[in-house]
Amino acid sequence: MPEPKQVILSGMRPTGRLHLGHLEGVLKNYLKLQAGEALCYFMVADIHALSTEYKVPGAITQNTKELLLDWLAVGLAPEKATLFVQSDVLEHTELFVILGMLTPLAWAERCPTYKEQQQELADRDLATYGFLGYPILQAADILLYRATHVPVGQDQLPHLEMTREIARRFNYFYGETLPEPQSMLTASPKVPGIDGRKMSKSYGNALHLSDSKELVEKKIKQMYTDPRKIHADTPGTPDNCVVLAWYKMYAADQAGEIEQECRSGKRGCMVCKRGLSPILDAIIAPIRSRREALAEHPEQLESIVRDGALRARARAAETMEAVRSAMGWLAVGQRGKEK
Ligand code: TRP
Repeated sequence: MPEPKQVILSGMRPTGRLHLGHLEGVLKNYLKLQAGEALCYFMVADIHALSTEYKVPGAITQNTKELLLDWLAVGLAPEKATLFVQSDVLEHTELFVILGMLTPLAWAERCPTYKEQQQELADRDLATYGFLGYPILQAADILLYRATHVPVGQDQLPHLEMTREIARRFNYFYGETLPEPQSMLTASPKVPGIDGRKMSKSYGNALHLSDSKELVEKKIKQMYTDPRKIHADTPGTPDNCVVLAWYKMYAADQAGEIEQECRSGKRGCMVCKRGLSPILDAIIAPIRSRREALAEHPEQLESIVRDGALRARARAAETMEAVRSAMGWLAVGQRGKEK
């Protein structure tokens, strides 16, 4: 079979339920890619999660299931993309070990995410061998599928650069084997959380794709608006108003008039918030109901990832054969037959 023009590999760590920020950034991009011509591999990076969550591996198992449910509920589809779990494909660990042998320690140590993450997650002991190796494992993920393009956010660019450097070094030692991937920057639209900061799991300000209607309503009531607009008829300055930002995103046709009414004191925040509830629920409700239906059939989820693992392994095995042969390693049964 001829190699497709574009091979996409991307992954997300299973760290909890996904929210509207993920939907607008990563997930819409995945949906676009799977609808196109490219061969797509989307991976739950559970071994990567282990690098920071090694004390509670049970939580990773649970979060892997949640992530898969979120993915399927938004429309990622096994007919269009290979959806799989990293730890189901043992070749990731195999290539990780091999690449680790030839990656200079300094490359790993100077990776900016290494120190940043250690500082950010100061409550955990991340002075481990595995955590230092995080980007090398990521390089193995990408090179294993001979990915041409890797959709990632800005924060992942150092890992992509390191992947390219590792591929080059492998090819320099053993001959041209692993193609260098390109990064494909995912635009991450600024999605405000309920407190006005960027929506993020760690800020506790997110609207999750699995939130109930009632919870969405409750969170909308807590949304940050103009704190000086005390009464409904006080003229507002909604420049940083989260509610207005959401109207602009999902009900652009109403946003202009709403803003005018707010500024002229003709509209109060409560009315505004009440109007937003059905708009956001219209986005979340279909995702939530697909998610609930899927959650009732764990055997379906199981068969999707089992099939995904088989497809992923088939491609990974091809790469490992090329890797071993480039290094002059013999397959089982060949030993003793060589000249
Ligand atoms: N490091 C990525 C993140 O934090 C997750 C990831 C693991 C990944 N392996 C990957 C992303 C391979 C792209 C390609 O989000």
